[in-house]
Amino acid sequence: MGFNVAIDGPAGAGKSTIAKLVAEKEQFIYVDTGAMYRGLAVYFLDHGVSPENEGELENACEKIKMDIRYENKVQQVYVNGENITGRLREEAVGNMASVCAAVPVVREKLLELQRELAAAQDVIMDGRDIGTCVLPQADLKIFLTASVETRARRRYLELKEKGVACDLEEIAADIRERDERDSTRKTAPLKQAADAVLIDSSDLSIEEVVAVIASLCREKRKTP
Ligand code: DC
Repeated sequence: MGFNVAIDGPAGAGKSTIAKLVAEKEQFIYVDTGAMYRGLAVYFLDHGVSPENEGELENACEKIKMDIRYENKVQQVYVNGENITGRLREEAVGNMASVCAAVPVVREKLLELQRELAAAQDVIMDGRDIGTCVLPQADLKIFLTASVETRARRRYLELKEKGVACDLEEIAADIRERDERDSTRKTAPLKQAADAVLIDSSDLSIEEVVAVIASLCREKRKTP
């Protein structure tokens, strides 16, 4: 069994940036579970699968073979043998992922794969339900959050830097909508585990958050 760190929290709290840096510093494999939902979403979009139709989703899930590989420690998502990692960040893919992630059959599809990855190696795994459902026995659980305003501002600056036209208010509204959907769904909603450490990154730098988590990892590794 590997040493398992779970990081959950809402979209835009900085989970993936932070988890990647902690992984580097503390020698973990970073497992991005959002990318797995996004991987399924790519298939659903390409095959015209309606996220409202559970039967269609179930049939599609049976046809999908997802592989997660690490190339130079960077996670790659393969769907039926094709590396689709380059498409995961598309806006339509993110929206489809959020909608279909509310459906139990979709979540079941990924659960075993996520647990296998955590059992095989030391991982820092990020998502929404890692501490509560996927790895309830994780050695360390973090719930990383930030205010809607902070998350919207970060996303706005990120898009602006890429030269993408965007509107701060629209981004904030989108974040609110996604938070609401992720935290009110019946199956595995976004929720802080009772034994998770809460970190609000609104007024902290990336380096500060990484330092806090790295130090918690070291403490836990010393005291099993
Ligand atoms: O973290 P992300 O934006 O890449 O995740 C995409 C969507 O997948 C997000 O809207 C919620 C869903 N998700 C989930 O339900 N459970 C996870 N463990 C990870 C992501």
